[in-house]
Amino acid sequence: MDASVDEILAGKYPAKDHAKRVAARIQELGHGQSGIVYLEAQKTRMIEDNDEAMPFRQRRNFFYLSGCPLPDSYLTYDIERDELTLYIPPIDSDSVIWSGLPLSADEALKLYDVDAVRSTADVNASLAHYCSAKGGKKVFAIPDQVAENITFLPFQETDFNVLRQAVEECRVVKDSYEIALLRRANEISAKAHTAVFKAAGSAQNERELEAVFIATCMTHGCREQSYHPIFAAGTSAATLHYQKNDEDFVDRATGAKKLNLLVDAGGEYRNYCADITRVVPLSGKFSPESRQIYDIVLEMQTSSLAMIKSGVAWEDVHSNAHRVAIRGLLGLGILRGTEQELFDKGISVAFFPHGLGHYLGMDTHDTGGNPNYEDKDPKFRYLRLRGNLALGGVVTVEPGIYFCQFIIKPYLNSSDLSKYIDAGVLERYWNVGGVRIEDNVVVTDGGYDNLTTTPKLPEEIEKLVQGK
Ligand code: GLY
Ligand code: MN
Ligand code: MN
Repeated sequence: MDASVDEILAGKYPAKDHAKRVAARIQELGHGQSGIVYLEAQKTRMIEDNDEAMPFRQRRNFFYLSGCPLPDSYLTYDIERDELTLYIPPIDSDSVIWSGLPLSADEALKLYDVDAVRSTADVNASLAHYCSAKGGKKVFAIPDQVAENITFLPFQETDFNVLRQAVEECRVVKDSYEIALLRRANEISAKAHTAVFKAAGSAQNERELEAVFIATCMTHGCREQSYHPIFAAGTSAATLHYQKNDEDFVDRATGAKKLNLLVDAGGEYRNYCADITRVVPLSGKFSPESRQIYDIVLEMQTSSLAMIKSGVAWEDVHSNAHRVAIRGLLGLGILRGTEQELFDKGISVAFFPHGLGHYLGMDTHDTGGNPNYEDKDPKFRYLRLRGNLALGGVVTVEPGIYFCQFIIKPYLNSSDLSKYIDAGVLERYWNVGGVRIEDNVVVTDGGYDNLTTTPKLPEEIEKLVQGK
């Protein structure tokens, strides 16, 4: 593990800096130089008809300004006084026997980068106090994230418009602490992917390898997964967000072993996500067709990475990846025609139907991407990041080529489009399923810093599967 990451993470999560940044953004957006920022943690929610709590996931915008993972907490930031106060649940004597003692205010003050810690019983009194003070006439909050027991009545003005936007825009640019968290999530996830490669040769079912991945993540410090992991063998890899993860590696219909397993999985480290995809040859050696597709996708990624630096239009990087895919598929004889005509007609969308990548942070599909799911051009419709790359943003670079019958067959059956695809050549590729290669990179001035250390070269992966 990276020593500098350990050093950075030995300090506190920089909640106060984030609060200042958010206040500055509120000002830039023209909403004044004073007021109270008000945020609530996620509540403890019970499973329906049951006395157990649902799995807990902290609200990201609350965490960003508090660094506090506790449910049922609150936060205020007095912009003018520059005072950040966290409110945590007090002792509930009925629940101590079941849940143990809660964190005390003194303990919380040592852990979190806030100016004061109080009890949640004090939130309304504290708001009223701020209101009577100079500059405290306005409260900024997020719609539908204010509990019924909270009153803003003493305030002259309640602004529900700007806070979410300000926090979510600030979240795009990561500071060194956040980069360290993302690096750690990637380091741990690399161990988990590598453990999967090593176990793939002898495993029988997708579920077994998902178990290896999660166990390795948990062992090394990622208690949660960033998202539902995708373990898709054979043709299931053509389903982009395959969730079943329970199929055998031997095809039930044919009795043949499936060729590849697509693994899209990442551990979450202290609320920060890794999002990594690799493809594993289940026999220990990529079939010739699988290797051809793998090499094209790797070239799509290498070529995309070479374009990355702050200010670059993500649409240009995405378009370039399409062009690399077109050239590669033309080379294999799957596509027919000229590169330009295939690009203009959007034929590569049949094989690469999703966007090249998205911002990454506390959410896997992180804030600030400004997608346009109404875009008339199918090449860009699912591009979750639009516009120019932000300096200090973290982005996934995840090109892919898939052989999905549901998507490709309409092209083959179209009188206009069938001429662009050679159905005979394509026949040899259906069993490849799909190949996606996904890394997480920090956007820098002149380029990028790749956080993903999971092996990626086909020979490296083959060796690990073979136990070498
Ligand atoms: N794992 C989801 C994605 O790559 O976007
Ligand atoms: Mn992914
Ligand atoms: Mn992704």
